[in-house]
Amino acid sequence: MSTVTRRPRDTEFSSGKGDVLLEASDVLMQFGGLTAVKDVNMTVHEGEIVGLIGPNGAGKTTFFNCLTGLYKPTSGAVRLSGEQIPPKPRKVVRAGMARTFQNIRLFGNMTALENVMVGTYCRTTSGVLTTILRGPKFHREERETRVKAQELLDFVGLGHTTELLARNLPYGDQRRLEVARALATDPKVVLLDEPTAGMNPQETQQASDLIFRIRDTGRAVVVIEHDMRFIFNLCDRVLCLVRGEVLVEGTPEQVQSDPRVIEAYIGTGEDDDFDDDDLQEDPA
Ligand SMILES: Nc1ncnc2c1ncn2[C@@H]1O[C@H](COP(=O)(O)OP(=O)(O)O)[C@@H](O)[C@H]1O
Ligand SMILES: [Mg+2]
Repeated sequence: MSTVTRRPRDTEFSSGKGDVLLEASDVLMQFGGLTAVKDVNMTVHEGEIVGLIGPNGAGKTTFFNCLTGLYKPTSGAVRLSGEQIPPKPRKVVRAGMARTFQNIRLFGNMTALENVMVGTYCRTTSGVLTTILRGPKFHREERETRVKAQELLDFVGLGHTTELLARNLPYGDQRRLEVARALATDPKVVLLDEPTAGMNPQETQQASDLIFRIRDTGRAVVVIEHDMRFIFNLCDRVLCLVRGEVLVEGTPEQVQSDPRVIEAYIGTGEDDDFDDDDLQEDPA
């Protein structure tokens, strides 16, 4: 694998040794007889980028779903800034955790700007009555929301897409739009599920730069990805999940040189019974 050349940290926020922000303790998620996530522990500090890798079906997305309240873990706890969060997506977002999805979930018939504005509504204070009456407070908040949403579009490199419908954006731009919408909720921690899936090398590089810039604003990032070069260049720490369990955790250097990680990717599932004899060259 390639030599690791991580971008140096360049702000006071990004020591990576800040306070603990997110803490998952012994998270277990079972579906009937299937254990998708088994006693997973993860701690994420302020200004840290943590990577989650592992073969397909390892439980990475399920773990994100447990962190973000989409699933209520069978057992275990998730704490953000020391507080246990109720497993309800809205409450999780308000508490300061935002995410993107492996399968993009945008409002296709809304503009890019409107998609980002949706994210900010969890922080606006207009009550139902103000919204219905559309009084001065509503209009002021609406204006502020637009300005903030446009700033976020600029931040992710989509400043030119304001009035374009989300469904008409190229795939890579849709992924960036999801990131902008997540940032609009003003999170302390951002969880990205396969943010570079379907991207070309140039877009992948841009995604790396974007994640570093998010980190440099003082946020923590947890990222699931299959692209090892991307993960090892980006992350301060990497967890490798296999069959729902953390197999290896360490720095990118430690994880990428661990033979168990390589084996997890090459010899998974049915191939587990594979023995060395099977590797002999076919005489034909
Ligand atoms: N809602 C669900 N009901 C039943 N099984 C599920 C559900 N969600 C995920 N799983 C199972 O959990 C396992 C882990 O899946 P997933 O978290 O999507 O893996 P990954 O994201 O690492 O590829 C898989 O076997 C998957 O089929
Ligand atoms: Mg997944």
